[in-house]
Amino acid sequence: MPTNDVIRFAAVGDLHCTKGSAGTLRGLFAEAAKAADALLLCGDLTDYGLAEEAKVLADELSVVSVPIVAVLGNHDFESGTPEEVTRILGTVGVKVLDGEALEVHGVGIAGAKGFCGGFGRGALGPWGETAIKHFVQEALHETMKLESALAKLRTPHRLALLHYAPIVGTVEGEPVDIFPFLGSSRLEEPLLRYPVDAVFHGHAHRGTLEARTINGVPVYNVAKPLLARSRPGQPPFRLVELPREVSRERSDAAEVGP
Ligand SMILES: [Fe+2]
Ligand SMILES: [Fe+2]
Repeated sequence: MPTNDVIRFAAVGDLHCTKGSAGTLRGLFAEAAKAADALLLCGDLTDYGLAEEAKVLADELSVVSVPIVAVLGNHDFESGTPEEVTRILGTVGVKVLDGEALEVHGVGIAGAKGFCGGFGRGALGPWGETAIKHFVQEALHETMKLESALAKLRTPHRLALLHYAPIVGTVEGEPVDIFPFLGSSRLEEPLLRYPVDAVFHGHAHRGTLEARTINGVPVYNVAKPLLARSRPGQPPFRLVELPREVSRERSDAAEVGP
């Protein structure tokens, strides 16, 4: 239960809401809202990015009385109208971040979808065909969005929301062949320049629950299928608490049950 000296965030991604999901998600959302002071959604909110799916999700989210902050995922782009998904979710108060930042209960939250391209020495470089350069440019563009959002935050405690993974650690468990499509280590660079208390992402349904950036920031893969499979018997969301006191250190971020 929420207490006065901490602020709790419940995070989950990859809801993949379909037209048939009515009635299946509101129990999860109600439980998350009861356990936390804010709900964070890490993309692939819908399955095909359809307005009908977004309307079902908005209705399921209407039971949530705490602030809801989200980023979109690749699935939310499939029908070519991600702005419509954003608009519909906005009707029930969901703040969808696309390179923006906001404050919730005094905690700064920066959000962007991110993009793929691989990790470390395996990352795709902008060389050769124009199509390859465009692909890499998209990863750089999303990285700049994250960076500009982080740069705006002046709060003592900060969180970052992504859909794609910024580090390889939380995609491990997936087939190695598809690692380059699950995230980009370019997304880690702004997190080194503007450290946060925790990073949340989804997309890698068979990845790893938790790993750390080079500078030790916890990264949580909150893909709902991963949470459900890895922690049977627990509701599929990650609960992270931050101290309400403004003078505490960033290392105070702690994952708590469930
Ligand atoms: Fe997904
Ligand atoms: Fe995805």
